[in-house]
Amino acid sequence: MPKLIVTTLDGTVKEIDGTAGLTVMEVIRDGGVDELLALCGGCCSCATCHVFVDPEFADSLPPMSEDENDLLDSSDHRNERSRLSCQLPFKDALDGLKVTIAPED
Ligand code: FES
Repeated sequence: MPKLIVTTLDGTVKEIDGTAGLTVMEVIRDGGVDELLALCGGCCSCATCHVFVDPEFADSLPPMSEDENDLLDSSDHRNERSRLSCQLPFKDALDGLKVTIAPED
């Protein structure tokens, strides 16, 4: 089972056994991290699933859509590692992926 390593807002690091085929957002929520609000449920319309992704994995992620890019622009916390976790399919190749929950806007 591929693992996802999540750093929460208070700096706690949690290792979650992920299921390939879910999105990173779903893996985080199923792993019991409830501070990722993901209010729209993954339709790419809320930006409350914002995470910072370890640059080591940047090449393994799908390119950012225009919608994702626009939504991330609405966040004061956006940086070059920002992604919306509902737009990232989790898969075996992402075993060990590290993400940090972005502060709420
Ligand atoms: S859950 Fe709403 S944009 Fe990702």
